[in-house]
Amino acid sequence: MMLAWQIPQYGKFEEVLNLASFGLPDATSNSALIRVEAVGLNFLDILAIAGKYQEKGPLPFIPGIEAAGRVVESGPESPFAIGDKVMTIGNAACAEYMAAGSKTTFFIPGGMSYEEAAAFQLIYQTAHVALAHRAMLKADEWLLVHAGAGGVGTAAIQVGRALGARVAATAGSDKKLDTCRRAGAELAINYRKTNFCQSIREITDGRGADVIFDPVGGDVFEESTKCTAFEGRIITIGYASGQIPSIALNRILLKNMDVIGLFWGNYRQYAPQRIRQTQAQLNHLWRTGKIKPVIFHQFAFEDLPEALAALAGRQSFGKVVLKGPPANS
Ligand SMILES: NC(=O)c1ccc[n+]([C@@H]2O[C@H](COP(=O)([O-])OP(=O)(O)OC[C@H]3O[C@@H](n4cnc5c(N)ncnc54)[C@H](OP(=O)(O)O)[C@@H]3O)[C@@H](O)[C@H]2O)c1
Repeated sequence: MMLAWQIPQYGKFEEVLNLASFGLPDATSNSALIRVEAVGLNFLDILAIAGKYQEKGPLPFIPGIEAAGRVVESGPESPFAIGDKVMTIGNAACAEYMAAGSKTTFFIPGGMSYEEAAAFQLIYQTAHVALAHRAMLKADEWLLVHAGAGGVGTAAIQVGRALGARVAATAGSDKKLDTCRRAGAELAINYRKTNFCQSIREITDGRGADVIFDPVGGDVFEESTKCTAFEGRIITIGYASGQIPSIALNRILLKNMDVIGLFWGNYRQYAPQRIRQTQAQLNHLWRTGKIKPVIFHQFAFEDLPEALAALAGRQSFGKVVLKGPPANS
């Protein structure tokens, strides 16, 4: 048996999360079983617990989609051996043990801690696939990253810089602006005090941003369409605002603009080779010091509700990490 956080019914995480005992997950032929050392938490975990995420698993379930740990058992077709240090994206990460499927499990680069590895997956994969593959961001183009101090936001700033772009970012407090600047933003805009479109027009001599990375949606998306450059691209990443925006097609036509969707989860099914190529590029960028996860705090395993509250309350910046349960728990 193992210790895990359980969601018996959908609801507010403060009300429905509880610690319970579970049987160990199976390591099928192409997967491995890992002892979880660190879990990367995401805004989507809150949505999944509330039953508001686009992918819904059967109840009860163990929350968390990414972790780093050590292989303790390996299926016959798994490329991993007992003792290997790996990072993985899957299901049921907030537990003592997690099944790690080979399509989305990678060796942790030498010298990277479990904590950093847990923060080095979904947000960087999303940022890199969105900017390099979907939006084809080019060197010297202007990239605007919304929610620049958040998980995917900090990753998008760093990846944008690594691709040679000039980066501007928005955030909702002066403290978060510091996070954006430290991640590499040349211009950091407090959208509560300044109209971000005006700032973007000023810094681009009226042209607008070539690429806009939007994990917020709602009014932020609507406003972004007003400061997109000729042949600019807006990538819709998520709806942290809780509002899914719509757009009049004539605005796309009149501005010679592309609105691009990116749901990283689809690559697991349709193009797993893209995930592997992207991870190789991300590992290289990490080794050469061009990207580095920003970690807000590493919470103890039993403090998952506090960790999620930091995300939900918009106090966190960068990535929130949860330690795996202590040995012999
Ligand atoms: N498409 C994909 O494949 C993919 C992959 C990963 C994540 N996502 C999505 O990207 C979004 C951000 O995820 P994340 O893990 O980076 O989250 P995060 O670290 O919590 O950052 C989200 C940020 O959004 C801003 N925000 C604006 N309005 C908000 C509101 N009403 N409530 C809460 N935050 C609000 C906040 O920054 P300020 O305080 O500065 O405003 C907040 O810090 C989520 O919607 C997530 O589902 C999509």
